[in-house]
Amino acid sequence: SGLIWKQKKSMTKVLISDAMDGIAEKILTSNKIDVDVKTDFNIEELKDKISEYDGLIIRSATKVTKEIIESAKNLKIIGRAGAGVDNIDLVTAKEKKIIVMNTPGGNTNATAEHTLALLMSLSRKISKADVSTHKGEWAKKKLKGNEIKGKTIGIIGFGNVGRRFAEICQVLGLKVLVVSKSFTAVKDQYPEYSSCDLSEVLQQADIISFHCKPNIDGSSVIASKELNLMKKAALIINTARGNLVSEVDLCDAIKANKIGGAAIDVFETEPATNNALFGLENVLLTPHIAASTSEAQIIVAEMVANQFVEYFLNNKVINEVTW
Ligand code: MLT
Repeated sequence: SGLIWKQKKSMTKVLISDAMDGIAEKILTSNKIDVDVKTDFNIEELKDKISEYDGLIIRSATKVTKEIIESAKNLKIIGRAGAGVDNIDLVTAKEKKIIVMNTPGGNTNATAEHTLALLMSLSRKISKADVSTHKGEWAKKKLKGNEIKGKTIGIIGFGNVGRRFAEICQVLGLKVLVVSKSFTAVKDQYPEYSSCDLSEVLQQADIISFHCKPNIDGSSVIASKELNLMKKAALIINTARGNLVSEVDLCDAIKANKIGGAAIDVFETEPATNNALFGLENVLLTPHIAASTSEAQIIVAEMVANQFVEYFLNNKVINEVTW
């Protein structure tokens, strides 16, 4: 019994603290890794319990703060089932020699398709049309939309999602402008897109779509100064991170008809339960669901779990995030 106790004690333990596809738990347990799925821990409970675990798997809801990491006496690895790691204190994780990994590419197509869905819905007033048609209003005359073919789109960021969305836009007949440092190095491979700086894009684009990381200090890329440079009918789409566009300034610009509208999936504070953008005309909102497709959620859960298995069983580090 002493041996069993010893084996039990040394068994690797992983906490899954955000909702994700059950395949992650299945892969881990079938590799003899002990798993707890607890998606309702508050900060104090997580701080209290985290020292029991060797690994932590999250999506965007769990905030892995300095305090949490410092309480995590046995933690070796944090896995993000998704791309963004802005909810993890990477500096403290590095100090504590805790590996951070994500699942790049796993939800790329889902996010690009949601961006397209937002753009089409906003351009054709789909959400308004749906609500009024359900009410029997037949508001045909009030629901004239715009086409996207022939329009100019500014894509900010050229990672996996930016690249996939640019490809979709190109096929649909939009002129694609890209704002990205990394794009400059590879632009010869993409002669169909133009490389631009932000102020050129602000002035030329009919649509601006965000696909970049947030600034480290959380400062916005678009605030009133930038909004003032945009075309009067321009649309902003944000499926990247909330703090890239100042919500208060966006709100003022929409109210003053300085731009045509916005479609927003990500917010400065999430969950967004009270927000300046709520109820505004020509503003389409979704609750951070760009990556929430059955397909993508299976892929990211599978990726993160397999990466954990490789780490705990074979000492292999895959998709490590370095800032
Ligand atoms: C990501 O960074 O991958 C997204 O925020 C996806 C998610 O909702 O987890």
